[in-house]
Amino acid sequence: MEPFAGRVSIVTGAGSGIGREIAAALARAGSRVVLTDLSRDAAHTEADRLTAEGCSVIPRRCDVTLEADVRECVECALTEFGQLDISVHSAGVQFVAPIEDFPTDVFDRMLRIMVTGPFLGMKHAIPAMRARGYGRILSLASVNGLVGFAGKAAYNSAKHGVIGLTKVAALELARAGITVNALCPGYVDTPLVRGQLADLARTRGLSEDQVLEEVILSLVPQHRLLSTQEVADYALFLLSDRAAGVTGQAVVLDGGYTAQ
Ligand SMILES: NC(=O)c1ccc[n+]([C@@H]2O[C@H](COP(=O)([O-])OP(=O)(O)OC[C@H]3O[C@@H](n4cnc5c(N)ncnc54)[C@H](O)[C@@H]3O)[C@@H](O)[C@H]2O)c1
Repeated sequence: MEPFAGRVSIVTGAGSGIGREIAAALARAGSRVVLTDLSRDAAHTEADRLTAEGCSVIPRRCDVTLEADVRECVECALTEFGQLDISVHSAGVQFVAPIEDFPTDVFDRMLRIMVTGPFLGMKHAIPAMRARGYGRILSLASVNGLVGFAGKAAYNSAKHGVIGLTKVAALELARAGITVNALCPGYVDTPLVRGQLADLARTRGLSEDQVLEEVILSLVPQHRLLSTQEVADYALFLLSDRAAGVTGQAVVLDGGYTAQ
């Protein structure tokens, strides 16, 4: 059974963490995938791994803040695979500091990666999807797109922003056979979260183990980090034909974080 056979996908930030898992899940489910990341090495390593399994994957270095890079990835999908059905925006970064100490250039860069990046992905994917009357667009937002978190001015602004972008795109595309959603995970065990522990430890004067227990897991009723696999499982449902009626939504997967 290959439920995504005949589909063509682009995944950004697919060299690590959640994007890596979603790209692999799509490829193993039969989609042809343009696997992109800021790191050329990471994109090629992942593509080689999946190609060795018999998947059809093309690696591309893509900085999602650069329109020329994003356009080139869409052209690659159309030239090499003939169509584009699925666009997943997972590229993201984290930086933690109080607003008065937050470097303005870092703030600007984070918004470009996590809001302008998905905007550019949509802008260049939509014409190809409209032409076929079918599309699935999924951006990685976060529970930090729904509630605040002290120290994450840029991340929270970006994740709230991408949910707004998602709603607008869903309305614009509602009759075009294209769904647009934002997935809002809680804490997932990836390099992005592990890197955050050091930042939070510094700003709060705690050890990294204390940050994990007292700052992060204490907020999660299930008291655990999510796995990338369970995020990919949920993403694949939203990217499937079966989720045709789900659009414009901030879909939450958070171990109970936002239920409190
Ligand atoms: N890990 C979590 O707990 C969590 C929770 C909610 C949402 N998210 C979101 O999920 C997405 C993936 O996060 P992750 O935890 O897998 O992170 P990760 O650090 O494991 O992977 C992020 C990837 O994005 C790439 N990237 C960074 N800047 C880029 C750019 N300008 N252009 C292209 N690629 C770029 C990196 O090279 C990296 O491979 C992010 O948008 C993140 O905000 C993560």
